[in-house]
Amino acid sequence: MFPKPSPDGIALSIQDITAQWPEDWKGTFDYVHQRLGLAGIGQHPLKDIVHRQCELLKPGGWIEFVELDIAPNSNPAVEKLFSLVRELIDMIGNGWNYVSTLKGALEQAGLESVEDKSIDVFLGASASSPELREKSIISMQFTTSAFVDVVDSK
Ligand SMILES: C[S@@+](CC[C@H](N)C(=O)[O-])C[C@H]1O[C@@H](n2cnc3c(N)ncnc32)[C@H](O)[C@@H]1O
Repeated sequence: MFPKPSPDGIALSIQDITAQWPEDWKGTFDYVHQRLGLAGIGQHPLKDIVHRQCELLKPGGWIEFVELDIAPNSNPAVEKLFSLVRELIDMIGNGWNYVSTLKGALEQAGLESVEDKSIDVFLGASASSPELREKSIISMQFTTSAFVDVVDSK
């Protein structure tokens, strides 16, 4: 799905986050960002994955993970979806509450100024604009149908 040619100033590479990173990338990044990737690490220990990504940073660099908190939710529809996702993630490997171990893994990797911030994301009818309402419904329908497909295939 990479655009060809690559946009100016951007180099795209394929990398399995559970594998070693190229040796010559280590210590070369000011900023490392990863969104919604950790659920896919299977049985690989989360602290090892995080440690290897921290090794990519230059001294003084920053790393940011954005992950979904699937802790029990007071909205019945969201809770129904999340309970399914928790079950799936438990089946894959690291336990559904892997997000709660992320801050400790970053500290263990030797990082300083580690922050853990929770942000509520309002979806559907509670979204803050008609555009976000529409986009969030499409996105949640897409995501949910993929989870239901997995459960149906079991
Ligand atoms: C929930 S999507 C998130 C995609 C994107 N980062 C975002 O935030 O929109 C998870 C992505 O992780 C990829 N993925 C799963 N396991 C992976 C692995 N071991 N190494 C690299 N990517 C992986 C999947 O192919 C998928 O594209």
